[in-house]
Amino acid sequence: MLPDEKGRFGKYGGKFVPETLMNALDQLEQEYCHYRQDPQFQRELARMLTEYSGRPTPLYFAERLTKQLGGAKIYLKREDLNHTGAHKINNALGQGLLAKYTGKKRVIAETGAGQHGVATATVAALLGLECTVFMGEEDIRRQELNVFRMKLLGAEVVPATSGTHTLKDATNEAIRHWVEHVEDTFYIIGSVVGPHPYPMMVRDFQRIIGDETREQFLAKEGRLPDEIVACVGGGSNAMGIFYPFLEDPVKLTGVEAAGEGIDTERHAATISKGRPGVIHGSLTMLLQDEYGQVLPAHSISAGLDYPGIGPEHAHLADTGRAQYVSITDREALAGLQTLARVEGIIPALESAHAVAHVLKVAPSLPSDYSIVICLSGRGDKDMQSVMGYLGVER
Ligand SMILES: Cc1ncc(COP(=O)(O)O)c(C=O)c1O
Repeated sequence: MLPDEKGRFGKYGGKFVPETLMNALDQLEQEYCHYRQDPQFQRELARMLTEYSGRPTPLYFAERLTKQLGGAKIYLKREDLNHTGAHKINNALGQGLLAKYTGKKRVIAETGAGQHGVATATVAALLGLECTVFMGEEDIRRQELNVFRMKLLGAEVVPATSGTHTLKDATNEAIRHWVEHVEDTFYIIGSVVGPHPYPMMVRDFQRIIGDETREQFLAKEGRLPDEIVACVGGGSNAMGIFYPFLEDPVKLTGVEAAGEGIDTERHAATISKGRPGVIHGSLTMLLQDEYGQVLPAHSISAGLDYPGIGPEHAHLADTGRAQYVSITDREALAGLQTLARVEGIIPALESAHAVAHVLKVAPSLPSDYSIVICLSGRGDKDMQSVMGYLGVER
């Protein structure tokens, strides 16, 4: 299984960082490889995942949605039911615990939609660690509720004011800060991005989504699902649910944000429209202009609006093991409304992209075809933006 010893997934991945971080990454790799095998670490993590976060999350058969679409059977993996409202807590608990075991007193994180920031601030409070979260000014505006939650949890939220004031800029700030404070600070990266060992480590902490899905689906149906669909920002919820199925005949579909359309300049469809390049310490598919300058990404959802993608996804796309499609802002909004009305579940705008893709394809598939959607998070955090998009007066 990938990555190789250099942290490469095919030609993607690796470590492209300043000299000062090379040592820190080598050390992190060694520590992670040690604690990954440590029974006490694994026991403590498993206990926090069950007793604190509420795992396993249910695998729910969406009967009314299935009936309404009249095609494939649709299941939802309910990551929205995790403590703090999204899959991000799985990884934050893993890395937070690693910070504690390795003697670090403070953690930093970057965040887009705020879910990873909230998850990190939560874990820092739980483990008694100091916490600073970097967040783009534009995302601070879009995700006011999550900013308040992080502050209540005791974290400092530092606005990133460069570039498009979004996740890419918050990540730049976090890396800059880490370079200066690497001795006493653990950087909790929120997706399967960044230099090795982060894409591997975050995938490993998120694979619990796919491991549970596999067991739950087998118990319900006595076989594996035909297809798994997940939204892709950096790609952690998708990689987490895909990974345990990589060797199986299961179709894997990642859904990128097409924003206002992939033929406009306002989208975040990295695999569909990007080229290989280096961003945040990793070689991956990247939205860039003809001179290699990173292009701004856009999506209705703050968690998908990132110009790069995890290197393992770039590799899965290259080898054809997974397919990547895209959904526009408008389609995602309609997906959110449909799931709310038909199933009584309001998904995060990110997850609504995966729902919207399934709304498109399910009706023409046979009734013995099963699709699992990774419902990565709940929509509470997005209500303010959704009210704005739907023109609701406050
Ligand atoms: C609910 C939710 N889903 C998905 C994402 C996208 O991240 P990833 O692609 O790493 O799962 C985010 C990011 O903030 C999120 O909050």
